[in-house]
Amino acid sequence: MTHYVREGRLYHVMLPQQFEEPLMEELFDTADLIKEITRKPNGSGFLKSVLQHKKAMLYFTQPSTRTFLSFLAACQLVGIDTAEVRDPSLSSEYKGESQEDGVRVFSSYFDCIVMRDPKPGFCEYMAYLLDATGRSVPILNGGSGKDQHPTQALLDLYTMHRSFLNRGGLRKKRYAFVGDLLRGRAVRSSVYLLSQFQDLEFHFVAPAAFQIAPDLEDHLKTLGISYQLSEDLELLLPEMDCVYMTRLQDEYDLSGESQLVDYSRYSLDLEKVQKMKQDSIILHPLPRRDEIHPEVDADPRAVYWRQLRNGMYLRAALLLHVFGAAHRLQEY
Ligand code: CP
Repeated sequence: MTHYVREGRLYHVMLPQQFEEPLMEELFDTADLIKEITRKPNGSGFLKSVLQHKKAMLYFTQPSTRTFLSFLAACQLVGIDTAEVRDPSLSSEYKGESQEDGVRVFSSYFDCIVMRDPKPGFCEYMAYLLDATGRSVPILNGGSGKDQHPTQALLDLYTMHRSFLNRGGLRKKRYAFVGDLLRGRAVRSSVYLLSQFQDLEFHFVAPAAFQIAPDLEDHLKTLGISYQLSEDLELLLPEMDCVYMTRLQDEYDLSGESQLVDYSRYSLDLEKVQKMKQDSIILHPLPRRDEIHPEVDADPRAVYWRQLRNGMYLRAALLLHVFGAAHRLQEY
């Protein structure tokens, strides 16, 4: 039996469905506190003492900039020592060792494993295998193929939460998710997480070939959440509170299907942004290509640079939660 919860806390972090609203609030408060403490005299030194006895393996076999670096920076913030394997050809996988054996080795040396892998479900499979060995350590899913990216979803909602603090929070808002919604794991995970909140309106704006997957539609229908599918971004922009942009995920193409789509219709420039409400926000999990013109970056509605920085604080909060150390912040 794979243990996602132990001693009342999350153990393996696999899916956005593991995070209910009270836990999200706890993590958001912890992330706020970490941010505040880093700005105080001796705050960084104090934070580094909290988990200085822990070690983390960052095992990223699929390319990453933000998730890898923000987990690394998060570990550094709270004192966790790290090691990394990013190129399996430099590990004994090159000599034919299975990934399963490799991950089992990590669990002998480290107290947790942050893992990104192109195969959907691989993190869950490894969590199951490690639990069966009797020498398990927490695995945190840093992105698993096209299916899930739970910590991205958490930092997305943390950014929405902070942006809407003076506007009644996440509820009673209109959210548009734009782009390649079929293969974008960030969108999938964020929609799963957001769907816990009442009174939201979801709009999915995508080329027909890349609309949200049937299982996500089924999930929303089961919860009785209304949503609209659309191909017209400009029509929706004036009504939205949050516009979540994404890039074309053509690394998952089977036969060049991305090239058949005019993706410029799913992009933002300053002219389109001027049509949005003054207090709306634009998110993007990044990396971007042409779907947000750099001239939009200076607009106050563009929060994607803040969003990626929030990821570091949120991931540090999650590590404190997993190791049962969040209460130690009160000592400061
Ligand atoms: N948002 C995100 O997952 O970015 P990276 O692929 O750079 O980690």
